[in-house]
Amino acid sequence: MMENEIIPKIIREVKEYFSEDYSGHDEWHTLRVYELATKIAKEENADLMIVQLAALLHDVDDIKISPDTYVNKTKAVSLMKQCGVEDRIISAVCSIIDEISFAGDDTVVPKTIEGKCVQDADRLDAIGAIGIARAFAYGGNHNRALYKPDLKPCIHMTKEEYINHDSTTVNHFYEKLFKLKGLMNTASAKKIAEERDKFMHDFIEEFLMEWKGKR
Ligand code: ADP
Ligand code: NI
Repeated sequence: MMENEIIPKIIREVKEYFSEDYSGHDEWHTLRVYELATKIAKEENADLMIVQLAALLHDVDDIKISPDTYVNKTKAVSLMKQCGVEDRIISAVCSIIDEISFAGDDTVVPKTIEGKCVQDADRLDAIGAIGIARAFAYGGNHNRALYKPDLKPCIHMTKEEYINHDSTTVNHFYEKLFKLKGLMNTASAKKIAEERDKFMHDFIEEFLMEWKGKR
């Protein structure tokens, strides 16, 4: 396959793969991450092919959607092989996918600038107005309460605790979303994160005021 046909082909494949998923991993999340990662990568002079492939494929073997292919990233690898992507690039993309996830206090900083761009893009899509919408969609999908005033957030958790603990969607803001601004790797993403983070803080402040009957 010609190099300029690879990305359009992978876009078609991921659209198909994620259609009808409302758990927070729909095709639109992947496409937004792809757009954001591309923008950040251009500003950071990162390798566009590696960034775009990793952005498009970062969730296809996610442990929550595809637990059987998670370890070997079978879906991502086989799609890249079908497109004739070089082994060197396949392995760079797989490393980025391994590093990308938020895992409580066990979260890692990606080693390469390409990994940093993709991790930032994925995190930007978890904050701001879109982040708020995704969090409540995820909560509904997993039968979680919006908020329980007596259940305090756990600010520090290992990966194991982060995955297993039971919480509410409002707590998720304290346990993950409010931390993301400070964890951005690139200057480009930090700038975008500022406003998105402020919007989320305003939202939670208003939510809690209304809950307490103060507005
Ligand atoms: P990613 O796209 O980075 O792989 P996740 O799989 O961790 O993100 O989560 C998908 C979306 O669901 C994100 O927007 C995230 O903030 C949200 N989410 C994840 N866990 C929770 C939770 N416990 N409560 C509310 N929202 C959550
Ligand atoms: Ni993602």
